[in-house]
This record gives sequence, structure tokens and C-alpha cells, in this order.
Amino acid sequence: METNPIEIFREWFTQEMNVTKVVIPTACCLSTIGIDNYPNARFVSLKGIESNNLIVTGTTSSRKGLEINQTNKIALTFWWTKTERQVRIQGDATQISNELADKYFAERNRDSQIVSIISNQGKKIKDIETLNKRYNEIEATFINQNLTRPENWGGYSIEPIRIEFLEFKPNRFHNRQLFQLIKGLWTKSELQP
Ligand SMILES: Cc1cc2nc3c(=O)[nH]c(=O)nc-3n(C[C@H](O)[C@H](O)[C@H](O)COP(=O)(O)O)c2cc1C
Repeated sequence: METNPIEIFREWFTQEMNVTKVVIPTACCLSTIGIDNYPNARFVSLKGIESNNLIVTGTTSSRKGLEINQTNKIALTFWWTKTERQVRIQGDATQISNELADKYFAERNRDSQIVSIISNQGKKIKDIETLNKRYNEIEATFINQNLTRPENWGGYSIEPIRIEFLEFKPNRFHNRQLFQLIKGLWTKSELQP
């Protein structure tokens, strides 16, 4: 097995993507430390790996953004059903540059782009009709034009400090390998199932 956990992650990710049939195969659970210290978790999609960091995107002014702003220590957890593997990552999240956010925003489908523009994610809805109207207005106004990323849409680059790979085995002796970044070097341990 590889000794660089990011390379193992890439390998496992590719293997699952090649065989999976799930609708959003890149889904993973992003856990943050809540403003009130209760852990908070939600699914997001892994958008890429840049310079050994994992990239997730979304609204930066909603709860996850506020929480990461307060404490940038996060966890990202994957369960890959076809290959029967779990990956647990802990690390530090940093907001990505505007240039990178623009790139990821441009890759989104148009419906998602419009919703990001009109919706103040996580705020209470007073009137869904007003939101629908805003959606239709933007759609009609910017027909055949590129849409500009709203300022509160961006992403986070997650620099892992700990990665655990678990692979199910039929005899329940699951294979667990923990990599920890210690003084800049990845140190590997095998864990009991
Ligand atoms: C499978 C799945 C994928 C999702 N992908 C994203 C995503 O990539 N980015 C995002 O901001 N929200 C995504 N969401 C919605 C989030 O779970 C969440 O509702 C939203 O980000 C608001 O979270 P917050 O209030 O903690 O900021 C996804 C939800 C599901 C179920």
C-alpha cells in the first residue's frame, strides 16, 4: 500500500467513482464545531483535490461558514458503498481564493447558480413566492449570459492532519489504517477493527 495518504485517498476515490451507481457519489459529511460547541454536520460534495488539499464549496455566510470562521478545525467523512470503505479526515479549513471560487462557480449548473444568487442560505423564508419570482427574473434577465458568483459563495480548502482508511472484510476483521501528520511527516499505524 502507498505511504502517502492523499495518494491512497485518490486511488480509493477513483476506484469507487468507477463502479458506483449512487446519484451524488462525491457526497461526504462535513462536520464543524458549532458556535455553541455542539458538533454540527451536513453532507456536501467533494469538488476536487488541489495541492493535497480537499475542496468543498457552498455558501460561506450560512451556518457552516460562520462555524468555520470561528473554528477552522473540521472533519470530512466518506462512506463508499460499492467498495465498502470509509475514510475519516480531520483537518484545517481555509477559504479558497476568489479566482478558485469563480472557477468552481462557473462549473455549477445554471439552476444551482441562480439559487445561489437569490437564496440567502439558512435564513428563514418569509415568502417562497418572492424567491420564485426572483429566480424567474434572473433567469429571464441573464438569458445566454454568464452569471457572476455572489460574494457569499465560495469554498474551503481542507488540509488534512489525520486520515483513517477503513475497509470492510467479510470476516469482520476490518482493515484500519491511521495516518497522522507529525512534524510534517505522515506516520502510519494499523488499528484493531
Ligand atoms: C448529497 C448532498 C450534497 C450536498 N452538497 C452540498 C455542497 O456541495 N455544498 C453545500 O453548501 N451544500 C450541500 N448540500 C446541502 C448541505 O447539506 C446543507 O444543507 C447546506 O450546505 C447548508 O448547511 P449550513 O446551514 O450548515 O451552512 C448537500 C446536501 C446533500 C444531501
